[in-house]
Amino acid sequence: MLRIAIVGGSGYTGIELLRILKLHPQANVVAVTSRKYAGHPVEEVFPSLHGYSDLLFTKPDVTYLSKSAEWIFTAVPHKAAMSIVPQFFDAGCRIIDLSADFRLRDRRTYETWYQAHTAPEQLDKAIYGLPEIYRKDIASAQLVANPGCYPTSAILPLVPLLHSGIISSQGIIADSKSGVSGAGRSLSMGTLFCEVNEGLKAYKVAEHRHMPEIEQELSAAAGKPVAMTFIPHLIPMTRGILTTTYARLTEEISTDKVRVVIKEFYKDSPFVRVLPEGTFPNISYVRGSNFCDIGAKVDGRTNTLILVSAIDNLVKGASGQAVQNLNIMAGLNESLGLDTIPLCP
Ligand SMILES: NC(=O)c1ccc[n+]([C@@H]2O[C@H](COP(=O)([O-])OP(=O)(O)OC[C@H]3O[C@@H](n4cnc5c(N)ncnc54)[C@H](OP(=O)(O)O)[C@@H]3O)[C@@H](O)[C@H]2O)c1
Repeated sequence: MLRIAIVGGSGYTGIELLRILKLHPQANVVAVTSRKYAGHPVEEVFPSLHGYSDLLFTKPDVTYLSKSAEWIFTAVPHKAAMSIVPQFFDAGCRIIDLSADFRLRDRRTYETWYQAHTAPEQLDKAIYGLPEIYRKDIASAQLVANPGCYPTSAILPLVPLLHSGIISSQGIIADSKSGVSGAGRSLSMGTLFCEVNEGLKAYKVAEHRHMPEIEQELSAAAGKPVAMTFIPHLIPMTRGILTTTYARLTEEISTDKVRVVIKEFYKDSPFVRVLPEGTFPNISYVRGSNFCDIGAKVDGRTNTLILVSAIDNLVKGASGQAVQNLNIMAGLNESLGLDTIPLCP
């Protein structure tokens, strides 16, 4: 059994990790941290786990946690993550960090979009945890930087097409819509019910922090620097991300051929589902699952490829992907504990 600690267990990705790991046949969660709820039973804070957890929240004490567990999930905000991850690393733990602190390989890019990096020596050691692209490197990594939710939804449909040269690396536009759990569980006015319900708004247009992360991975796929436009939106739903991407085609090609290229690229990736021609993803059809559904359409009139992808931000966009990484790092079947059918309706 894998002895696991979850740091930041009282947040949305933390509770989702617990939910998934409780039914994982090789996982034994030995500690869950929260500063606010330390000493309280997990099931008191999350009644949905009633009968599934006899753990109490503990303080995030790195010495105690690294003695109790070999596997650490850090599900804390960026900046907080880089102050604890190096300590777990030095203690010999294997870490899956859900924050943005180790996702950008270039320190200057991180510091442009976030803040000063206090553990830059770890950036080279971290592997970007998108299993469909970096499975081999993840297997032996000590530190995996779990991707962001928007980036996962935007990168997966584009990589096979940039890789094959079917689309131009110039002029890519991704329009993403996210449910409110993407903002985490801490209080903020922008995520209050009355601010979000019956509304739909764009925010951080062409200046969201996930843009450099998407560009990093698209550049790796294209083999040259890619700059793209990213427009996030907040939608009045709890979970889910739908991303519509527009790209210029470099050759005349049918929708079916595009689908075949994506399908072939992901033929060994159990969580990418390429939908039949004429069918497009719906957030409802991936809810509660680790799937990324992808639909494609060639608009021959304008020489544009339209890609639509959907994920559950808390599963494939965060905790499910983190468990997928755990499985790969531990040499287990990638789907272990994740093989669920989406909740629909
Ligand atoms: N929500 C998503 O859809 C999503 C998707 C992908 C990635 N992520 C990333 O995953 C991480 C967690 O996100 P979330 O949505 O779960 O956030 P959240 O709901 O706000 O939860 C944050 C957790 O971290 C703990 N925490 C906060 N500051 C801490 C510190 N300085 N030291 C130790 N623990 C601390 C909090 O508990 P206490 O304050 O009680 O200690 C809480 O358990 C973030 O980096 C986020 O960007 C989130």
